[in-house]
Amino acid sequence: METFAGSETIATRPRDMTCHTLLYAAHQAFRRDLDRLAAAAAAGKGRAGHVRAGWENLKEQIRLHQELEDGWLWPRVERAVAGRRAERAVLEEMRADHAGLAPLIARVDAAMDDAAMDGGEGGDLPEAVRDLREALERHLRHEEMSALPLAESVLSGAEWRALAGEARDRCAAGTPLFVPWVVDGIGPVERSRFLTALPKRLRELNRVMWEPRYRKRRLWSI
Ligand SMILES: [Fe+2]
Repeated sequence: METFAGSETIATRPRDMTCHTLLYAAHQAFRRDLDRLAAAAAAGKGRAGHVRAGWENLKEQIRLHQELEDGWLWPRVERAVAGRRAERAVLEEMRADHAGLAPLIARVDAAMDDAAMDGGEGGDLPEAVRDLREALERHLRHEEMSALPLAESVLSGAEWRALAGEARDRCAAGTPLFVPWVVDGIGPVERSRFLTALPKRLRELNRVMWEPRYRKRRLWSI
């Protein structure tokens, strides 16, 4: 029998927790964190320790998300649409979008360093954050309107479950902050929906370990 999240079978797997749910949830968390960064930059708080820690975590979450898509998801979609030029072009656009974000992220890094050196005034941090935010928003919409629907139309249930397994393994092994980061600050209904849809083992890990650890870090001074 196929399994999901270790010992849980498909029959016991909560119905809503599909891999694209995880991907969309991450997109919302990117938007939320960039709103926080923009607010901190506008207030001249770019050098605050908790803001920098929030930014470091956001960069890591973006890196892991892109790694999962570029290294795992898009190659499988690519195989499924082999020979279909228009669909392959969509995936190339995704890779180009990802590559285009790198210099904008580096520019925020540099502006943050400047902000730390000039006493927190922020230099061009607000502009750097604005440009990253606009580019990321364009990319996320592009992906949500083209690449993810394409992936949903060509990948089988088993492939989505394998991707969820891949994400889960990374989550448990190296990125235990993913779950508490996704639910940080979201409404009670969405929070409950997301957590309830997780495999029980991960929900428990989040409750006793991941979320307390995440809260202690007070990312963005929250
Ligand atoms: Fe994505």
